Amino acid sequence: MYHSSAPGKVILSGEHSVVYGHPCLVTAISLRSLASVEVIPEGIIEIISDKLGSQIFNTVEGPSDEGQGLAPIASVARSALEGADAKNGLRIRIESEIPLGAGLGSSASVLVAVASACSNALSLKLTPGDIAELASVGERRAHLKPSGVDVNIALRGGAILFRRGGPLERAEYPKGMKLVLGSSGSPRRTADMVKRVADLAESSRDLFSLSMRAISGITTRMSAALAESDMASVGSLMLLNHLALSLLGVSSESLDKLVNSAISGNALGAKLTGAGGGGCIVAITPPGDEQDVSQWIEGAGGVPFVVSVSAEGMRSWSD
Ligand code: PMV
Repeated sequence: MYHSSAPGKVILSGEHSVVYGHPCLVTAISLRSLASVEVIPEGIIEIISDKLGSQIFNTVEGPSDEGQGLAPIASVARSALEGADAKNGLRIRIESEIPLGAGLGSSASVLVAVASACSNALSLKLTPGDIAELASVGERRAHLKPSGVDVNIALRGGAILFRRGGPLERAEYPKGMKLVLGSSGSPRRTADMVKRVADLAESSRDLFSLSMRAISGITTRMSAALAESDMASVGSLMLLNHLALSLLGVSSESLDKLVNSAISGNALGAKLTGAGGGGCIVAITPPGDEQDVSQWIEGAGGVPFVVSVSAEGMRSWSD
C-alpha cells in the first residue's frame, strides 16, 4: 500500500488577487489529508472517502464524472493510470482532518496526496512539479480558474509568497506560530466567489483595480512584517486586507461578525481566509491568548479551532 499525506492551508493575504497575478502569502497548517492507494486487477477506480462516501469510476471518463464530490479525485487517478499506460485499476482510501468548503485547502491537500500516492503505486517517478500538475487536473475540475496556490502549499509546506506562473518564494515566519480559525459554518463554492469577483471586474473596473492594488501592497508588506516577527503590523495588515476583500464583495455578515469578535477578544488582527462568502476567518493573537480569542469567536456563533503553521509539506511512505 502506498501512502501520502499533505497539509491544508491558510491564506494570510492575497486570496482572489492571486487569480489576477498578484502575490499571495500562504501557510501550511497542522491539519492534514491522507491518501492510501493500491493497484487492483479490475480496470476500475474505487474511491473510499471518510467524508464523501464511496464511489466506483470507470478508467475512461463517463457520466458518473459529472459534478463535484469524488469526481476530481477520479480524474487525477485516471491521468496517473494513463501516464503509466496501465490496464489495471486503483483503490484509493482518503481520510482528512480538514473541514470541507471552509477555505482551508481541503481539496488541494487531498488531490496532492492522491496524485503522489497514485504516482508511487504506479512507479511513475514524478518530480514535485509533475505532482503539482497532476493534482491540478483535479483542481481544475473543482474550481474555476484555480491559481495553483493551494496545490503548491500542500506540496511544499511552511509559508510561501506565491505568484501565478512566477518562481516560488519561501516566506519566513516565527517558529511555533499559531493561528486561531473561526468557522462560520456556512459552506460555499470557491468557483462562485471567484465568479463574483470576475463580475465586479467587468461592472466596476475602478473599484476592482483599486482593491487589487491595495491587496497586493498589503501582501508584500505582510510578508516583510512576518519575516521580522512584527506581529502587531501583521495583525493591522490583516484587518486592512479584510476591508479590501469586503470591497470586492466576498465577505458576509457572519464573517464580519467573527472578525469583530476576534478583535474584541484582543486578537492582533483577523480576516476572512480563502474564497469568502462563508468558510473561515483567521486571527492572530499574542502568544498564549489563543483560547481567549477562541471563546470570543464561539460567543459570536463561530466554531473556533487553533492550528499551528506546519513546516512539513507532502510526505510519502509505503508498507
Ligand atoms: O478554495 P479556497 O477558499 O481556499 O480559495 C482559494 C483562493 C482563491 O484565491 C479565492 C482562488 C484561487 O484559485 O486562488
